[in-house]
Amino acid sequence: MAKNSKPHRNPPSKTWSGRFSVPIAQSVKEYTASVTFDHVLAEFDIQGSQAHAQMLHEAQIISAADLKAIQKGLSTILTDIRAGDFKWNLDDEDVHLNIERHLTALAGDAGKRLHTARSRNDQVATDIRLYLRHHIDQLNTLLGVTQLALLNLAQAHADTPMPGFTHLQVAQPVTFGHHLLAYVEMFERDIQRLTDCRHRVNQLPLGAAALAGTSYPIDRARVAEILGFEGLCLNSLDAVSDRDFAIEFCAHAALIMTHISRLSEELVLWSSPRFGFIRIGDAFCTGSSIMPQKRNPDVPELARGKTGRVTGHLMGLLTLMKGQPLAYNKDNQEDKEPLFDTVSTVSQTLTIFAEMLGSVSADAPAMRQAVMEGFATATDLADYLVKKGMPFRDAHEVVARAVRAAEVAGCDLPNLSLTTLKGFSTLIDQDVYSVLTIEGSLASRDCWGGTAPKRVRAAIKAARKRLARHSPAVK
Ligand code: ARG
Repeated sequence: MAKNSKPHRNPPSKTWSGRFSVPIAQSVKEYTASVTFDHVLAEFDIQGSQAHAQMLHEAQIISAADLKAIQKGLSTILTDIRAGDFKWNLDDEDVHLNIERHLTALAGDAGKRLHTARSRNDQVATDIRLYLRHHIDQLNTLLGVTQLALLNLAQAHADTPMPGFTHLQVAQPVTFGHHLLAYVEMFERDIQRLTDCRHRVNQLPLGAAALAGTSYPIDRARVAEILGFEGLCLNSLDAVSDRDFAIEFCAHAALIMTHISRLSEELVLWSSPRFGFIRIGDAFCTGSSIMPQKRNPDVPELARGKTGRVTGHLMGLLTLMKGQPLAYNKDNQEDKEPLFDTVSTVSQTLTIFAEMLGSVSADAPAMRQAVMEGFATATDLADYLVKKGMPFRDAHEVVARAVRAAEVAGCDLPNLSLTTLKGFSTLIDQDVYSVLTIEGSLASRDCWGGTAPKRVRAAIKAARKRLARHSPAVK
């Protein structure tokens, strides 16, 4: 569809000519046409038409010869579209009428019979559902690929300590691997949401015709079977006007981008010289035209920025629908650009993210240094005192005093002498140093979902198994 996708202008359309005494104004034609963007539905439109024609024949509504002519014509059109040889025509308004007109040119009266027992209203609803189902499957694969990139990085850093933050202040030591696994969980929920949404996308509207159903003896279940739909839209008015499934998809897409945006923010912070925790590969950084020292993280910044437009598309679709009476209204044509842009933005972003994550290297010494500068084992000291019998609130107070002393002395807790530490509580002994070390602190977080390196390794293994289950092709 890349080549020749620009519409050409032909002699005036005759689609509604019998009803009107003057031709439609050129400005109106241009304003109302959608072929400039809805041609991306072409493959799905043809799929839907093939199934409809097959059913029309099986229900003895069209002849075998007509079916054959339609099938042949549609497959020629599909080949032309794929080769970029199809001439899209603005006068034919949208993807549906463009294809139908070409079919009629190729197949004569058989082409004119294809539209029996359907309307563009149920046709377009079917096309969007087929389009979205296809892209949901692709996005789920891309989410799996992103998870895999995170898991590979996490595996290399299952033991690498970094500061865990709350309020962007050093809180407790975690491993870099553990931190990355948090995003694996977010993307897992995204996969679950898209998978769930797919069931509601995958219902067939075709057969609702313009709004009220049809008087022809059609077999909707047969069309659903041919097209792989799980069920039928059960009310014809709802079938042609419902866009909930697209809104729902956009909500899930906005959440995917929100997760990407949070990760982007971290990548930007971590790769800044102030943090120096990671390096994003050269191929994914850009320079500055004026400041030679710069390695700008443009990819995560742009992804963070693009989150805004995807969230905007969700708002756009909700607003598009809120005032519409049943059933189809032309407003609905405005569902396409936000939906298409959502799909392409999310899929481009996930694709580049997975690649970029493969280029990330961690500066383990810099991360360790940051852990040591932040009194990250203060909670461990409090827990140590509690295990020796002190109530937690008292322990909290004792440690707060020890931290203040370390701050004044310009060092971290493990650098305080045993005598100094004993001055805060006589419960403190030589064994305190094993909990004050980063490794001791990490190893002690040995609960389900905790950051102990052995838990992190087990979590990576479990996540890999889960990935192999839902995305066997992702390796
Ligand atoms: N291009 C139209 C759309 O996207 C197709 C349906 C047109 N139906 C109609 N009654 N004008 O919504």
